[in-house]
Amino acid sequence: RDNMAKKVILEAGRTFSEFSLLTDYTSKNCNLNNINLKSKLGKLDLGIPFLSAAMTSVTGYEMALALGKEGGLGVLPARLSVKEQVDIIDKIKGYEMGFVEDPVSVRDNATIDEAVRLVEKHGHSKIPVTDRNNVFLGLFNFDKYLESNETPAENILSIMTSVENLPFTKNSEITVKQAKKELEENNYLIVLDDLGRLVKIAFKKDVENIVVGAAISTHKGWKKRVKACDEAGADIFVIDTSDAYNEFTSKVLKEYTKMNLGKPICAGNVITYEGAKFLMESGADVVKVGMSSGSICTTQREKATGRAPMTALMQVERARADYLKESGKYVSIIIDGGVSDAGSMIIALSIADAVMMGGYFNHFFEAEGEKYDANMQITTHEPDIKYVATWGEGSARARNLDRYGHVARKTFFAEGEEGTVENWGRLKPKLKQDIRKIKAALSNTGCMKLKDYHDKAVIELMSPYTQSIVGDTHDMKVKE
Ligand code: IMP
Repeated sequence: RDNMAKKVILEAGRTFSEFSLLTDYTSKNCNLNNINLKSKLGKLDLGIPFLSAAMTSVTGYEMALALGKEGGLGVLPARLSVKEQVDIIDKIKGYEMGFVEDPVSVRDNATIDEAVRLVEKHGHSKIPVTDRNNVFLGLFNFDKYLESNETPAENILSIMTSVENLPFTKNSEITVKQAKKELEENNYLIVLDDLGRLVKIAFKKDVENIVVGAAISTHKGWKKRVKACDEAGADIFVIDTSDAYNEFTSKVLKEYTKMNLGKPICAGNVITYEGAKFLMESGADVVKVGMSSGSICTTQREKATGRAPMTALMQVERARADYLKESGKYVSIIIDGGVSDAGSMIIALSIADAVMMGGYFNHFFEAEGEKYDANMQITTHEPDIKYVATWGEGSARARNLDRYGHVARKTFFAEGEEGTVENWGRLKPKLKQDIRKIKAALSNTGCMKLKDYHDKAVIELMSPYTQSIVGDTHDMKVKE
């Protein structure tokens, strides 16, 4: 036993894609329409359990707004100046979209399939149906279609909800303020002119509070940052360090608690039971998990430190359960790093309350990274965009010494890469599609909400051999 490490774990750590979700009984009303993915981070309500990473290549105003509108949370990087963070929060909190003028619509002779294609392209789940004179006839509702027995080739009118059954007004001059009143009762309001022609639509979620988070470091000046961002209306603070199991973080947590802002604080990242328990005991409302699993991360390569993300998550969950028993406080868990497809989200959400993603969100038009065309020339012309720049907070480009610790101040070495990812277009359509996949998985397990899913989900480890059989198609050639 002499001269040996304290412990050598010989069981390999696990990642999301090594697991498979088992099915459970599904009742009739457990369908995509009725399933919701609402979640909570401490006291903060989220419409969907997604956070965009506090990375300079990912989250700025556009990303925080786009994700916030869908019910998720953008976390503004601590690398931004206090003024930059405050300005973005101000803009997001002051945002009021008003009406969707000129909504994408289909004609009354369209097939259901044509409407579905528009849903897939734009991400809107409701498509107005009009006649040749633009007179509004009704609304195609994608979620309703999914639950129906209609087939794609049928005419749109067979499934459309007619105008008389929808909230509409013929006052085409209606103001945002007046519309807001109507939106207290309904999720949307269709605005027609006096001849019944479609003018615009107002959606409730566009006038609801968009939430946004601010990352802070444990270094000097954090308190000033918190105060300024709190005043601007930030909804949650996220202590962003690559390794939070330390004295600095617990000091910040304790002092933050004393500030009594009534807003949740998240601390991270940790990867062990002890690290998580330490943050919980220091006052964290939310704990963020992960190290070395980020898409741009070179930490394992550079200093062989970190942990397989699913294993880290399982350990932190143990700490949460113990802490809940001891204190009565439920600490939310965010998994951060290594999640980039719906399958991984589904497995991660069987334990985590929310998923933070950098690489995934970096692919979209709304990401902060520069956009490039096919010849790697910078462009802002949307149809030409082929790639989006990405870089880690610990890359030479970002050189975020705050995130990577005080020691690194003198001895900087990059813990992140810089590069590009493929452009996936706008966030909304892809996000909606992935949300549908997650809801479908919940439906397979008979769960209507994430809370039930946490209680009921059964996941099973696959052997590498099984993974090669079930993980993808096999013994066939996929059509190009
Ligand atoms: P992804 O979703 O797999 O891309 O992981 C995103 C996460 O990687 C972020 O939220 C950070 O926790 C982490 N991260 C960001 N920048 C770096 C870096 O430069 N090196 C290592 N990890 C990073």
